[in-house]
Amino acid sequence: MKHLLKLLDLSPGEIVEILDLADELKAELKSGISKPRLQGKTLGMIFQKSSTRTRVSFEVGMYQLGGMALYLNANDLQIGRGEPVEDTARVLSRYLDGIMIRTYAQEEVERLAEYSSIPVINGLTDMFHPCQVLADLMTMREYLGRDLAGKKLCFIGDGNNMANSLIVGGLKMGMSVSCACPENYRPAKVVLDFAANYGNKFTLTDKPEAAAVGADVMVTDVWASMGQEHEKAQRELAFKGYQVNDRIMALANPNCIVQHCLPAHKGEEITYEVFEAHAKEIFDEAENRLHVQKAVLVKLLG
Ligand code: CP
Ligand code: NVA
Repeated sequence: MKHLLKLLDLSPGEIVEILDLADELKAELKSGISKPRLQGKTLGMIFQKSSTRTRVSFEVGMYQLGGMALYLNANDLQIGRGEPVEDTARVLSRYLDGIMIRTYAQEEVERLAEYSSIPVINGLTDMFHPCQVLADLMTMREYLGRDLAGKKLCFIGDGNNMANSLIVGGLKMGMSVSCACPENYRPAKVVLDFAANYGNKFTLTDKPEAAAVGADVMVTDVWASMGQEHEKAQRELAFKGYQVNDRIMALANPNCIVQHCLPAHKGEEITYEVFEAHAKEIFDEAENRLHVQKAVLVKLLG
């Protein structure tokens, strides 16, 4: 593994290795041990979009590993004034040991990686959010057991970056994945093509109730992602009926956990009641960003 651009690039074995190392790093941290596995290493973090979790968890993660992270707001970089991504990649490769980037187009991340001689990590694009889904899988293993094979993951809402990455991650872990999205808001074609290899382990419907039946994990995400704020009104109409609420949860397994990458819009994609009833799992998921990304950093930069 040279980069982390999308989960489609990783084998199930590589995903499990990251999750196992993340468990180990979490246990170490909780017992007060801190091995400087990335002593003297630097990570540049390019942000074209806002972030709370990704920024803080990567920055703290690098510090805990003995390295350092640089926050690079794209608007302050020459890339924000049009310097080509391939030149930015070659320059940053001369200073840094790794690059994390959050941006719009997946192609930009892929291009950055193509021209970088150092590892590139996707910190979210319009298409994928691999770091988040690794944290979700880590959390699922904590609640459902280390072997996720045969467990049912349900995603209700927009076929966005989270849906795309969850479908790939869940299927690669042997889970069955059911997805409920309105017709015009389906997951990406490349993801549906991938899922087609999994037969009836993957289902896509426009009926949230059908998708929710027997779920072990219920996941949702905002209806309007970053960059889609202007579509908010139209999306609220399209996603009416795609809310994770008590009625949907009653169809899932009794011990079903809830995951939400955050930030959440309570009262829209999830009710306040369901969110608060499952806050423990949701904030464990947020915490696990730190541990799983440290594992990714050790694998790529170590
Ligand atoms: N879930 C997530 O990526 O959060 P941020 O946008 O705050 O980084
Ligand atoms: N789908 C959301 C995820 C935020 C972490 C977005 O892209 O804005």
